[in-house]
Amino acid sequence: MKSLTRLFIVASLFSASVTIQGSPRVNYLLHCSGCHLPDGRGSPPAVPSLINDSGKLAAIPAGRDYLARVPGASQAPISDLELSEVLNYILLNFNGDVLAKDFTPITEKEVAKSRQNILADPLKYREKLWQQYR
Ligand code: HEC
Repeated sequence: MKSLTRLFIVASLFSASVTIQGSPRVNYLLHCSGCHLPDGRGSPPAVPSLINDSGKLAAIPAGRDYLARVPGASQAPISDLELSEVLNYILLNFNGDVLAKDFTPITEKEVAKSRQNILADPLKYREKLWQQYR
């Protein structure tokens, strides 16, 4: 193979992987959609839907924090920045109808803090959140 051709192939592989890593949608599809499905509808009650409930939860501080604390989110093999982008992707794309008007995107810093406090019993915690805020 001519070295210029080889260089071209290496360069295009490199740029493809950079694009994939940087895309919140691709990270959602790779790391979340296996359980929550590509459109976020999940398989309730075993796997909750990420449509509308996530947006309502994001309106309250403990709920916003909760989104990055559930095991599927906090343990995903992606960086804090990538997880914040995936959560914002879910909120903006699946929760547009319920999202608070003053919603501000979840930051990398918030995710870094939240995801350290991984929830041992997310369903019980979720129940408490709803009781408290509904
Ligand atoms: C292996 C299956 C699986 C994968 C992969 C997964 N989740 Fe989940 N997710 C669940 C289950 C099950 C729950 C319910 C809580 C629990 O038992 O952990 C849940 C709950 C949630 C919740 C809380 C929803 C609510 O209304 O209470 C959010 C937010 C969430 N996941 C986001 C994500 C994100 C973001 C990813 C990808 C980075 C992801 N999940 C990957 C299975 C999964």
